[in-house]
Amino acid sequence: MTNRIAVALVGASLLAVAGAQALPADRTVAVARTDDARTRAQAIVAKMSFDEKIALVHGLFPPRATGKTANELIPSAGHIDGIPRLGVPLIRESDASLGVANQVEQRKGDVATALPSSLATAASFDPDISRAGGAMIGSEARAKRFNVLLAGGVNLTRDPFNGRNFEYLGEDPLLAGEMAGAHIAGVQSNRIVSTVKHFALNAQETGRMVLDARIDEAALRESDLLAFQIAIERGRPGSVMCAYNKLNGDYACENDWLLNKVLKRDWGYRGWVMSDWGAVHSSAKAANGGLDQQSGQELDSAIFFDAPLRADIESGKVPMARLDDMVVRYLTGVIETGLFDNPVSDKLQPIPYARNALVAQRAAEAGIVLLKNDGNLLPLSGVKRIVVIGGRADVGVLSGGGSSQVRSVGGAPVEIPLASGAASSFARITYHASSPLKALRAAMPGAVIIFVDGQDKAAAADAARNADLAIVFATQWATEAQDVPDLSLPYGQDALIDAVASAQPKTAVVLETGGPVLMPWLARVPAVIQAWYPGQRGGEAIANILTGKVNPSGRLPITFMASPGQAPRAAPVGLDKLTSLEAQAAADPAQAGKFQLKTYPVDYVEGSDVGYRWYEKKRQTPLFPFGYGLSYTTFAYRNLTASGGKTLTVSFDVVNSGKRAGSDVPQVYVARDGSGTPMRLAAFQRVTLKPGESRRVTLTAEPRIVADYDTGLPGWRIKGGTYRVALAHDATDRGMTTSVKLDAATMKP
Ligand code: BGC
Repeated sequence: MTNRIAVALVGASLLAVAGAQALPADRTVAVARTDDARTRAQAIVAKMSFDEKIALVHGLFPPRATGKTANELIPSAGHIDGIPRLGVPLIRESDASLGVANQVEQRKGDVATALPSSLATAASFDPDISRAGGAMIGSEARAKRFNVLLAGGVNLTRDPFNGRNFEYLGEDPLLAGEMAGAHIAGVQSNRIVSTVKHFALNAQETGRMVLDARIDEAALRESDLLAFQIAIERGRPGSVMCAYNKLNGDYACENDWLLNKVLKRDWGYRGWVMSDWGAVHSSAKAANGGLDQQSGQELDSAIFFDAPLRADIESGKVPMARLDDMVVRYLTGVIETGLFDNPVSDKLQPIPYARNALVAQRAAEAGIVLLKNDGNLLPLSGVKRIVVIGGRADVGVLSGGGSSQVRSVGGAPVEIPLASGAASSFARITYHASSPLKALRAAMPGAVIIFVDGQDKAAAADAARNADLAIVFATQWATEAQDVPDLSLPYGQDALIDAVASAQPKTAVVLETGGPVLMPWLARVPAVIQAWYPGQRGGEAIANILTGKVNPSGRLPITFMASPGQAPRAAPVGLDKLTSLEAQAAADPAQAGKFQLKTYPVDYVEGSDVGYRWYEKKRQTPLFPFGYGLSYTTFAYRNLTASGGKTLTVSFDVVNSGKRAGSDVPQVYVARDGSGTPMRLAAFQRVTLKPGESRRVTLTAEPRIVADYDTGLPGWRIKGGTYRVALAHDATDRGMTTSVKLDAATMKP
């Protein structure tokens, strides 16, 4: 590692800890660099032989690769040899949504800092938190010799049962796009590459390798694609990972419309498209359809981008110019992110784990959502005897499973292999070593805090009765490759909470779940905290929220339903049609080849009315709406003004009207008068205020949220006229509204 990079890395870590400072985002400079990067890439490719080009468009999956490289194969997701004579770097890819991943501890003893779930980070509504997390992960990855990170998951949550919701950023395209963009920029501030993934509409895990996601174009542009578009603009990722599923008839990784027309033509994207692992089905169709690189080749039925692609080029099915373009794009991403000029050291570098843990803790604290707090049960103060029940709170906090799994600093106090299911080949139920019980005891030295494991309901209820207050920790494990079977808490935990709440009126529930769960006991429990999967400092973060050292400020990035019937789909589509073995194979790339699997359609009938927009359209009242979250203080909005014309701008005062310092997230929702479409989140900002403090905030609406997509144009169209504007605490709040007139306008796709 050169000194220059060492300095840059220290800088990145400091920034990550200090948090609030944004990394520079000078678009003019970045665009100039892209031009330069592509020109440089073309000059390098001009010097390559045919074999050298082919070697760069397919990559190894180290756990299955067999002696094809002179370089060390580090167990991880991917490996592509470089071309030393041309300075093209060796690429080592790692999953990195929540930290440098190490699934099923394939690298024995190699730990990394684990952030909370991405959904938890989304709940902060704070791109700086997301950027700090990305910067931290990128710095650890570089120190571990990884230089392309499979991060930036931005699929919108269309279904609460999606097993990967915890890896994504919720149901709103603006929030998800902003947060993903910041994460990617953070990763790439280390002069390495991040992806954005999974492009596109990989919205459920059941049948993910075969299903055909169907939706109309305008709806897709206004929802999932908009999230990707914003993430790419903000984060400028070196690479885009195409998804497993089909989209409107064609596999995403050979989908000419998606890759060539939308991504490369309409959005002007100049980096490279890499496939998901096991997502390639052809050579000529994929290459001509816009795929630039086959990843994890051992997981596909053939190494399509080696011999078959050579043959297709020789026979003229794929133009040689297309192969050149594939490699130019690859190098453009590698050059533009700074990796080419700042190679990763071939020796492991020291990592400041103690400092990085603070980044994880801060993200967890900012993302925990206080859902209910009747009678101000929280924060805990002056309570003498507390019983903590269940959730393995004595040893740690739960994490989500699959390729994002981090082996965190401190190890895994609980690790349970799976006997069956699509995730069984690469996931285990894993806890991070951050005990809420221990953290609570340390934070409340004057209290007696006992633990019961919750296996025996009656014993838990007895312990609750004999205490002054009970805290039940309830968990729901979710993983890549499987959707959750239903939205109820598993293992009888609903009954446990009921029993405890009957015995002890002062009961708080802490939820560690992948996403929303049903809460049949809600009316009987005065306080509820949504802690998501809170990461390797989750225990400390939960204790700080419970005791009030940190004032809760998270807001739901996803609607919590009152009943499964409220959602567009009550259950994963296809699960009932597939045998359990087929279901397993249709979601696990390692097993897909074993069956002749049939494709089947999934119709996204809600179109762009995803999440809270669906609830408004259907006039349904959720359990907790998108954007919702309480605080130990109160916030008021005053003096709302809005101006229209070419741009919709809203100004208002946010006042901390309570007695504690805290953070609020004012949200601006917009809809055209008379359009009949639900209101959409057009701007938001996290604001931190001392008690009594007031701040004037001015927000500008994202124009593509105000607009509709017009396929006839083609492009975005703002219809001239009156627009309703709500300044709100959540997606259902209409306490403060106004209206403005906007000029008609159009924008490029
Ligand atoms: C996942 C990707 C991941 C890849 C490599 C796939 O199964 O869908 O998110 O990056 O594996 O591990």
